[in-house]
Amino acid sequence: MKHYYFNGLLFIFIFFIFSLCTMATDSDILKLPEPNTSGGMPLLDALKSRESSREYSTAKLSEQKLSDLLWAAFGISRTEKGLRTAPSARNWQDIDIYVVLAEGWFLYDHNKHALIRKGGEDIRKYTGSQNFVKEAPVNFVYVSDYKKMSDGIDEEIKSFYAANHAGYISQNIYLYCASEGLATVVRGAIDRDKIHKTLKLKDHQHVIFAQTVGYPKE
Ligand SMILES: Cc1cc2nc3c(=O)[nH]c(=O)nc-3n(C[C@H](O)[C@H](O)[C@H](O)COP(=O)(O)O)c2cc1C
Repeated sequence: MKHYYFNGLLFIFIFFIFSLCTMATDSDILKLPEPNTSGGMPLLDALKSRESSREYSTAKLSEQKLSDLLWAAFGISRTEKGLRTAPSARNWQDIDIYVVLAEGWFLYDHNKHALIRKGGEDIRKYTGSQNFVKEAPVNFVYVSDYKKMSDGIDEEIKSFYAANHAGYISQNIYLYCASEGLATVVRGAIDRDKIHKTLKLKDHQHVIFAQTVGYPKE
């Protein structure tokens, strides 16, 4: 009897430790401020000013700016159906945005409109080969989760969709940056294997491209 009691306690203890190790704690979740979802520059003006920049100030973006930026990128725009600011084939919503900052790296959780901390190190330099990536305050990495696309579709087609989906998100960021006087560039010249390892991604997760955002260099 004693033996069963001990085993039961041991099981609860191991389960408790396992839960602690795998669950995101409150300190791992950074709730972003409510995003601004109206206003900004007239769309046609933003289209005219959209451009790629490769010179950045080291100044940080405020949490409010990051919140607005992520909402514009791929936030929920139609709450009732969980639909988002960028389209995706069959509404697969396969793209995850990893947010790489000086103070750590995070996964954007669109449902909570929050950042989930994945690591505390500054890994900006691993998000690309161009010098500015390690100094600019924000680098996004777009990762497609192929498991979110229907089974029975071959990898080549999945990669076609994934690239398209990331492209819409990237253009949302370009237009938001044009409207807010921020600098940005989408980057395909990246070491995907290195980023895959650094972000501790699974086999079904695929790095598509990265995008830098910051203030223009003075
Ligand atoms: C898929 C894609 C990948 C790109 N990769 C890079 C890159 O690795 N590094 C870079 O500096 N610019 C990159 N760019 C930005 C282009 O060089 C830029 O869009 C082009 O020169 C036109 O300039 P504009 O965006 O100011 O109109 C990329 C653009 C796209 C669409």
